[in-house]
Amino acid sequence: MINLKPSKEMLDPIETASRDEISALQFHRMRRSLTHAYENSPFYRKRFDEHGAHPEDLKTLSDLSKFPFTYKQDLRDNYPFDMFAVPRKSLVRVHGSSGTTGKPTVVGYTKGDIDVWADVVARSIRASGGRPGDICHIAYGYGLFTGGLGAHYGAERLGCTVVPISGGMTERQVTLMQDFKPDIIMVTPSYMLSILDEFRRQGIDPRESSLKVGIFGAEPWTNKMREEIEQAFDMHAVDIYGLSEVMGPGVANECVETKDGLHVWEDHFYPEIIDPVTGEVLPDGEMGELVFTTLTKEGLPMVRYRTRDLTRLLPGTARSMRRIEKITGRSDDMMILRGVNVFPTQIEEQILKVKGLAPHFQIELVRAGRMDAMIVHVEATPERASADARSAASKELAHHIKSVVGVSSKIEVHDPGQIARSEGKAKRVIDNRPKE
Ligand code: DLL
Repeated sequence: MINLKPSKEMLDPIETASRDEISALQFHRMRRSLTHAYENSPFYRKRFDEHGAHPEDLKTLSDLSKFPFTYKQDLRDNYPFDMFAVPRKSLVRVHGSSGTTGKPTVVGYTKGDIDVWADVVARSIRASGGRPGDICHIAYGYGLFTGGLGAHYGAERLGCTVVPISGGMTERQVTLMQDFKPDIIMVTPSYMLSILDEFRRQGIDPRESSLKVGIFGAEPWTNKMREEIEQAFDMHAVDIYGLSEVMGPGVANECVETKDGLHVWEDHFYPEIIDPVTGEVLPDGEMGELVFTTLTKEGLPMVRYRTRDLTRLLPGTARSMRRIEKITGRSDDMMILRGVNVFPTQIEEQILKVKGLAPHFQIELVRAGRMDAMIVHVEATPERASADARSAASKELAHHIKSVVGVSSKIEVHDPGQIARSEGKAKRVIDNRPKE
């Protein structure tokens, strides 16, 4: 794979600034942002007052722990427009996150917010190895989801030629990739696997494609999956993280030269790791729930937003800003089987070890007696679809899951092509347990 490390002159000065410079900027911006939230959002004023916190109480960055958390439920309770800190007319765009049930949560952006967002996504694409003049194929969904438009504005800001194809119509995705010869693809990792299948179905060698780098996010994926995709396409696979409540894609991104976790763009988003049960702030290096405070957002400032994502904070490497470890899962996705905590990513890792199994999977939860049980639905590859090969693959996977993850599971190996394909975020867990 080619070396795509950007030279120092290409970077924003803050990307290589000293920790002291970063902290000074953060403190100044945090104070201003808390004041903006308190003065202009009735929601935050009430919340701060009830908690006995005032923006002037922030004397150092660690004083942030004196401020109350914000939850997804707060956005739902203030649906659609009641959390904003600017008049509705100052918003130039809204996005929403679908959520699993009921109404979406709505987020809003001023012109200034869209501008900052484009900057951080441009920075993310550059960190991933993208350059001005590259062709960027965007297969994240366009619409209320932040993936498509967020990536789009960032790629334009960097100076790329954007192909705004959105998700779906996989056959046409591959045709256009053959015709336009993109350097970069931005897409969910699970949809990239569907695109990979389509390359093979059309008899095209994916390693011969023009792609140099894929920028994958919006759902958890493992380093094993990175290897799988990098091998299949002979390109770099880099991780991008974000969430609509905080901005959208581009809150944190890996650097292509190190691929060792995602640098949080700390000049705009201040991270904390907390104990999800007690809410206590944990020192860097410890696993916990990621919490964000926005430092420059105007439309919808976020103060200590509980992401539910589990990770830890690590020191900077390729950039001065701190990294988050690749996210293994959300507290909402955690399954508890006979007392053992299990995340879908752990199952993904084991599936990718077994020759003869395709990387597509779904986990079904059922009730067996009084216990919960897990059925892992996987798919045979076309080359190893015989009954014998499947039975061997099934045994091997059950063994890996038992010995590495620590739980028993039932494995069902389906015919090639039988597991539902994703065109965006994959649905990994189907809960068929009886409702209480
Ligand atoms: O998924 C924004 C996004 C779009 C990020 C495109 C990256 C690329 P939401 O729909 O609000 O926003 O979902 C946010 O998705 O809290 C995580 O649980 C998960 N997530 C996003 N990126 C990653 C990642 C977009 N790289 C939620 N690794 C977040 C693991 C991720 N999980």
